[in-house]
Amino acid sequence: MYTDIRPRRLRTNPAVRDLVAETSIDKKRLIMPHFVTEAGPDRAPIASMPGIDRVSIENLLRDAEADLKLGIAYVLLFGIPAAKDEAASGAYAVEGVVQRAVRALKSRMPGLCVVTDVCLCEYMSHGHCGIVKDGRVLNDPTLELLARTAVSHAEAGADIVAPSDMMDGRVAAIRDALDQNGLIDTPILSYAAKYASAFYGPFRDAAGSAPQFGDRRSYQMDCRNALEAEKEVMLDIDEGADIVMVKPALAYLDIIRRVREIVNVPVCAYNVSGEYSMVKAAAKLGYADERMLVTEILTGIFRAGADMVISYHTRDIFRQGWL
Ligand code: PBG
Repeated sequence: MYTDIRPRRLRTNPAVRDLVAETSIDKKRLIMPHFVTEAGPDRAPIASMPGIDRVSIENLLRDAEADLKLGIAYVLLFGIPAAKDEAASGAYAVEGVVQRAVRALKSRMPGLCVVTDVCLCEYMSHGHCGIVKDGRVLNDPTLELLARTAVSHAEAGADIVAPSDMMDGRVAAIRDALDQNGLIDTPILSYAAKYASAFYGPFRDAAGSAPQFGDRRSYQMDCRNALEAEKEVMLDIDEGADIVMVKPALAYLDIIRRVREIVNVPVCAYNVSGEYSMVKAAAKLGYADERMLVTEILTGIFRAGADMVISYHTRDIFRQGWL
């Protein structure tokens, strides 16, 4: 009889369910992103990302300190400079907004682990992640700027640098530059399998980094490809990546799983802006319960194989005691 095997026995009550649960989430492995601005208001809400603000360095310190008291020990920083140009000078300026933010955070909270996004798009007048010439994003000349940016972040005290540009060879260029500057102990978390995605829409509003022409499909991955994600992560690991990332997360759970199975380094997943905004919008409209959505989504990402997750939900999770 089929009813001799009754899987429902292990679902009869919460205690039994907890006892046999296959996935448990370590909230310590959540990373909270922040947008820090050089100019403009000290705090400005981001319309498409309810609950997330663009903040001055002063307010970043305040937010990170309150979060740290709740237990959020990892932050990822994005900078929004006062001025943009065609060489992304703000990205690697010693007194750039991220560099100053890192120094301020590390001097106030030495125990906070600060990860910096290494990219040029927020600092480029055209919004692309590399140097543009004749309408094309140039790979090799961009590497030097990315390397300078990473070194400047690490010199400011960043614990981990995270290149998100998707130029070929950037992990090796950054590793070399860090080592040459004596920063041999700064790990690289590479956005290794980063797909061109509509889910970045709200982020580009937040960071003011939407490309002014064209799109990012000549450097970010095509969502139809999975084998290519394996190639990208293996290349990055060969070049010296210490942690590899899959991004976005939700439409790419299969990629997280594949990557987890083929690499022997930690795997990070980025639960990106559009994934966050959809949840916020559905909750606001009363279409679904926010807590249950967030719990299920984060559980799914960890179950797929992520060792750590970057999520805008992190603060809500800690504040409300979710997960
Ligand atoms: C910068 C960068 C982006 C994101 C992280 N780093 C935007 C992009 O590639 O267009 C997206 C993060 C998010 O959507 O939450 N290159």
